[in-house]
Amino acid sequence: MTENNYGQINDFYDVIVIGGGSAGLRAAIEAHDNGSFVLLISKSNQGDPHTVLARGGINAALGTMDPQDNWMIHASDTLIEGEYLADYERVEILCRSAPDAIHELVNWGARFHREVDGKLTQRFFGAHTYRRTVFYEDWTGNEIIRVLMQQVVERKIAIMDNIHITKLLVTNNIHKVDEQSNSPTYKIKGAIGIDVKNKRFVKFNCKSLILASGGYTRVYSVSSSRNYEHYGEGIELAYEAGVDLVDMEMVQFHPTGMVWPENALGTLATEAIRGEGGILLNSKNERFMEKYYPDRMELGPRDVVARAIYNEIAEGRGTTHKGVWLDVTHLPLNKILDRLPTMYKQFKDIARVDISKEKMEVGPTAHYSMGGLSVDVNCKTKVEGLFAAGEIISQIHGANRLGGNSLLDTLIFGKIAGREASIYEKQLQDPEKDNPLALKPDVHIQKFETEPIMVLDDPLSFRREIQDLMDQYAGIVRNATNLRKGLETILNLKDRFHSQTHKLHENELNNERHIQNLIITLEVKSSLLVSEAIIRSALMREESRGAHFRSDFPNINNQMWHANIYCTKENGDGKMILYKKSIKEVKGNLKEVIRDHLKAVHNNESE
Ligand code: FUM
Repeated sequence: MTENNYGQINDFYDVIVIGGGSAGLRAAIEAHDNGSFVLLISKSNQGDPHTVLARGGINAALGTMDPQDNWMIHASDTLIEGEYLADYERVEILCRSAPDAIHELVNWGARFHREVDGKLTQRFFGAHTYRRTVFYEDWTGNEIIRVLMQQVVERKIAIMDNIHITKLLVTNNIHKVDEQSNSPTYKIKGAIGIDVKNKRFVKFNCKSLILASGGYTRVYSVSSSRNYEHYGEGIELAYEAGVDLVDMEMVQFHPTGMVWPENALGTLATEAIRGEGGILLNSKNERFMEKYYPDRMELGPRDVVARAIYNEIAEGRGTTHKGVWLDVTHLPLNKILDRLPTMYKQFKDIARVDISKEKMEVGPTAHYSMGGLSVDVNCKTKVEGLFAAGEIISQIHGANRLGGNSLLDTLIFGKIAGREASIYEKQLQDPEKDNPLALKPDVHIQKFETEPIMVLDDPLSFRREIQDLMDQYAGIVRNATNLRKGLETILNLKDRFHSQTHKLHENELNNERHIQNLIITLEVKSSLLVSEAIIRSALMREESRGAHFRSDFPNINNQMWHANIYCTKENGDGKMILYKKSIKEVKGNLKEVIRDHLKAVHNNESE
């Protein structure tokens, strides 16, 4: 047993949380407050998860600016934006709980922007009926991480950072078989991985485990995630342990990332810029959104705006660096400095552009994974004791996510996952509860533990190949011919990966180059799985819905495809099998609200 600055480090925990972003922190807080002994593990440095990059804000129907707003209209916007692929019960939980989540953050010290009379400011984001995005400057995620980290530290929750988990340890659940498939079910036991700081292999035992390690947008070369995050690492861990993946084809391209300079490619130019009045122009100085979405223009749904930009560039009306212009030069400087200070600084520091005087050059960037792990409304996976929350899970945003709903989702479902993991570990029967370490070593676990850690000598070239093929064959606009080529290429790459990896011994972790190669190899391994799932699902979904656009099937087809697509690992030879499940119809008051909403939109359009 050792100590770190934040609490006791042991090798057995009631609940282990993997992921140091807002979902993981919120889950850890909740599990701790429910009386569990918690360890929080992160791949990144403590306090520097991907969440710190979340910019424009977090949604809740508080009605501070537009009193007509309520949680049902928020839910209706969320379901419509997601083209009805989301599970309405989860959307209801998300939107109903949003105001409480904001108040909790405020009580914990979050410094959200306020009006002169003290009420919280709410701004417009794309495809929202009302102003409902609460924000701290244009750096909201960073503020939320600051506040949550403070809560974690105050509670002395144990934290370990720079840990790369390589495998979840599961065991056969002898008491239960899967009712649907009649196959064995599994139970979580712990995880193994690499402790980069201390250059050693590590093993953790636990009663329940929460995965909150984010999404998979880095399988594309242009992404708003940094180059050391979001390769779908947690998704691969869970899939290998028996969890299905859902709607993996649904990858959101944010309309506006930086296109220049090269080293800033994909870096987010927040939607708040358009929310505060920014306009999009092509190289002919035309405000092209008039053509694609006259109703809401730049504040149309993200998929529509991203495709419009893609189209303008493809048809030769793009800028020198293959982007379009985003213009706020008509806004007063004090408004830019008050509402968009980090954007002002970002463009000045990185591109030498003063956004109060010059236009920004922007283009689509892979931003969010709507697909992910299959969990139930309580964040439970089908592996007993394994829970998940945040961008890693599916069915909350459907085919397209509303801006500002992601930070919200991490808090709401992080809290649920923390609570449920805690309830689960407390009800475990003796002798596991009393002394899990005294249990006989499990055959499954022994097998995993003795599996060697494999590494590539040149993992970067693999990473580049994967990103190039995903850009080329499975990007914003897709078709069967390209997707088939993409699938063939990814399967070849998979074979090459297995033939070129070799065993890494623990003592080789002393060498910095070996560690770097190992980390990138792990990212490549998960990218291969995730890319295969994206391509197979995109090929199967023969329609266009939200972020998934097929030029060979340009329309939505509700009869065939109002359904989730699942990827599952076959028991025998481990092949990826796909199947679809239809989605339950929205019920209750929400159904009426959506109907009224659509009627109002329709009337506006025909006026
Ligand atoms: O543009 C943005 O600030 C992104 C926000 C979001 O994806 O929720």
